[in-house]
Amino acid sequence: TNAIAVAIDGPAAAGKSTVAKIVANELGYIYIDTGAMYRALTLKVLRKQIPLNEDKAITNLLANTDIQLKQSDSSQHVLMDEEDVTSAIRSEHVTNNVSYVAKHAIVREEMVNRQRELARKRGVVMDGRDIGTHVIPDAEVKIFLKATVEERARRRYEENVQKGFAADLEKLKEEIEQRDRIDSKREVAPLVQANDAIELDTTDLSINDVAAAILEKVNKVL
Ligand code: C5P
Repeated sequence: TNAIAVAIDGPAAAGKSTVAKIVANELGYIYIDTGAMYRALTLKVLRKQIPLNEDKAITNLLANTDIQLKQSDSSQHVLMDEEDVTSAIRSEHVTNNVSYVAKHAIVREEMVNRQRELARKRGVVMDGRDIGTHVIPDAEVKIFLKATVEERARRRYEENVQKGFAADLEKLKEEIEQRDRIDSKREVAPLVQANDAIELDTTDLSINDVAAAILEKVNKVL
């Protein structure tokens, strides 16, 4: 059978990457975390102290930035100019600034070119905000994952506690809402459900339930 593209979109902390990894693994496909690409660029922008509204400077920086997503069995590594930034791109500082970097049209244009190139040969599970609507509008399977903001904040809270980080549930909820607001209201390729996407509300579902539901959809088209 021919390899396909699976697009998974949805708001922040809806469990997209966890589920996408499982689905990719089951299918023997490549998982492409497009949020990690925006995060890696944001990390570099913050280090260089480029103002977040300077779209041209940010685009020039991106043109000189190598971003690689490396898969080694179960773990994913993000390399920026050959530096392993896998954990650095998950910092609060990057998380709370990434949406300001990702809203610029000329920044997105270059990111989307890179993402389309990665998906060209299919055999990919790609997650993000605009995959089904913009990056791969002809993806064979499109999923839109949602969950209540309370549940998404609760999951992020648990994650932080497990990693030994300080966590404040109310603050996490506000940060998630703020990021969704910026991502949904931007002019270019905002976070929106594609007309032909299958909506899955994961609020009361386990990770394995969600992965199984997606695999069922995939197996119908394979
Ligand atoms: O998926 P993740 O939460 O890591 O994404 C981080 C941020 O990157 C999002 O909040 C959004 O601003 C941006 N992003 C985007 N388009 C994508 C993926 C991520 O604008 N396809």
